[in-house]
Amino acid sequence: MTTATALTSRADYDTAVDTALAACAAYYGDGRTELDDATYDALVRQLADYEREHPGHIWPDSPVGKVGGGAAPAGDVAHTVPMLSLDNVFDAAGLVKWGASLARRLDAPVRGGFAAEPKLDGMAVAARYSKGVLTKLVGRGDGHHGEDLSAAIGSIVGLPERLDSEATVEIRGEVLLTRAQFEAANDLRAEHGDKPFANPRNGTAGTLRGAKSRSYTIMTTFFAYGAVSLDGVDFLRGDTHEAVMTQVAELGVQTTAATEVGLRVFSTLEEVQTRVEEITALRGELPFNIDGVVIKANSFDEQKTAGFATRHPHWAIAYKLPPVERQTKLLGVEWRVGRTGIIAPRAVLEPVEVDGSTVQYATLHNPDFITKSGMMIGDVVTVWKAGDIIPRIEAPVTDLRGKDVTPIDLPDACPECGGEVDKSGKRWECADSSGGGCGLLAALRYAVARDMLDIDGLGDVYLEALVEAGDVEDVADLFTLDRDQLTAAARSEKRADTILGQIAAAKDKPLNRIFCALGIVRTGRTLSREIARHFGTMAAIRAADADALAKVKKLPPANAPKIAAHIAAMGPVIDKLVDAGVNMTEPVTNTADGPLAGQTVVVTGTMRGALAALNRNGVRELIENAGGTSSGSVSKKTTLLVAGENAGSKLAKARELGVRVVTEDEFATMIATLRS
Ligand code: IVH
Repeated sequence: MTTATALTSRADYDTAVDTALAACAAYYGDGRTELDDATYDALVRQLADYEREHPGHIWPDSPVGKVGGGAAPAGDVAHTVPMLSLDNVFDAAGLVKWGASLARRLDAPVRGGFAAEPKLDGMAVAARYSKGVLTKLVGRGDGHHGEDLSAAIGSIVGLPERLDSEATVEIRGEVLLTRAQFEAANDLRAEHGDKPFANPRNGTAGTLRGAKSRSYTIMTTFFAYGAVSLDGVDFLRGDTHEAVMTQVAELGVQTTAATEVGLRVFSTLEEVQTRVEEITALRGELPFNIDGVVIKANSFDEQKTAGFATRHPHWAIAYKLPPVERQTKLLGVEWRVGRTGIIAPRAVLEPVEVDGSTVQYATLHNPDFITKSGMMIGDVVTVWKAGDIIPRIEAPVTDLRGKDVTPIDLPDACPECGGEVDKSGKRWECADSSGGGCGLLAALRYAVARDMLDIDGLGDVYLEALVEAGDVEDVADLFTLDRDQLTAAARSEKRADTILGQIAAAKDKPLNRIFCALGIVRTGRTLSREIARHFGTMAAIRAADADALAKVKKLPPANAPKIAAHIAAMGPVIDKLVDAGVNMTEPVTNTADGPLAGQTVVVTGTMRGALAALNRNGVRELIENAGGTSSGSVSKKTTLLVAGENAGSKLAKARELGVRVVTEDEFATMIATLRS
């Protein structure tokens, strides 16, 4: 929704000024948002370009170059020291340029190092402590006067009402809503019939401003990034930003040191650039939003020499990161059966560019979220995405609601199997998910296991990410995953390559394993082997009706119709497997001639030596391929016992019955011809 075109006429300029002012007024009114940050910033940049070319047209109330676009409520509390803004850079070149201009002002390279810390995306406040007691909380306002936000004292995590010492000092920092607090805030608002906050930052402003009149409490969080002396009390020690921040933390106030992206000091800007990249990579996983990295000359002496411009210090710069939040339109909602039968809503969006990629789908969390946010199809919604994380909807922007909105239907039946929905939890589930039919994730977990496709690089978390991203909707999709999808899910190209190798190897697994990976009802490893051996090819299995299936060894005839029906239903998935080049035949092993032909074998104890890599199922497979019958217990029928380490009662019983006992290595030698 960004308009990137330049303003070419005075009329366009006038309209753009009005749009920007309306957005500022809404934002500073009650924390609503009419334009997302990216759109607003682009608009102000266009205004600035136009004003540079046409200085005679500039409106006095133009938001260009004003704190909060000039709409920030000034309030009536005078700031002790002005609360300034920061100048911005957007890339490594900008950072280097800033460094050079700082060195020019200092007449020397920076000696005291650069402190780098997150640019927290909330609301700037000054917290005044008198003899260790928090007496006043003031908003930034226009930088010279701010509003009294003291009503919020007591509901801000990290900003104690009493310090650990009787200090008189003003701590400055950012109040924000962590993701969890934002969700809790919107839940509370829904319960009280209030409209949801569109995003955490607007929510913070709304929370702090509304604290006085609200009948319920919304918790927020504070992180300090500075301190100034108060009432002439020279409390602050140390001559660096870092030292003061340590002192602030010692008072019991939260600083960013409590986070993964906390303050670090570097001697060169190259190191700072690397840190910016590290912080960018961590952005999606942080429990709160950041919109940049703030870099400050660490030494107060150097800060003093560098000095200030009208609105910002020369000794600090905000390295802005690309916006990760945009507004777009909710076109529809899809219900997908995911994780162990959980029925999760997915937003279908008007495509929007967020953090370098086009977002068309985003998670809507759960039905409770939809109900509480009051979201409707056709609404403008805020979508959030950073790095590799799955895009998510934060909230509808109800102020921008048009007339053509329709309610979101919540599912009455499982979209996968049409069965009942278990609505007892916050997340809805297919009531039948234990059967495997709707438990996509459970089914995939089963399919990739060692006994089946043996893609052990695809752990739970990665599978979940692939399913949530919509990359995998059935077992066959595993075979067409590409490197990018796997890199996103596994968060590493190296891991993606390992998994790709395992997937390629899985394509050549014998039919019994491929068939088993389909997760057909009432079949498991043993029966899958019998079915594959009996029919030889997938085509023959598909052609078999219930009667033909009932003839398979070990297959209870009563189960045959269900199995046949499920195989038929899996037709499209099997077709996809064929298209992906997956093996569809069972290697012919002439079991009648095998080294274990006619033998009934029991394996007990832990396998060592040549068989150490095999689990119970693997050993069983070997026995059957060698023509033997595998059994779990020793009886008169048993002809051979393979005794591993710590073989216990089965070994004793075999001895008692005079059954031949071999070690794992002897057994391995017996069947050596079969192993490849
Ligand atoms: S220092 C004189 N450090 O960014 C320097 N500001 O655009 C004053 N902000 O109003 C600011 N994180 O609301 C500083 N680590 C940080 C920050 C930070 C967020 C905000 C703050 C300020 C705005 C300036």
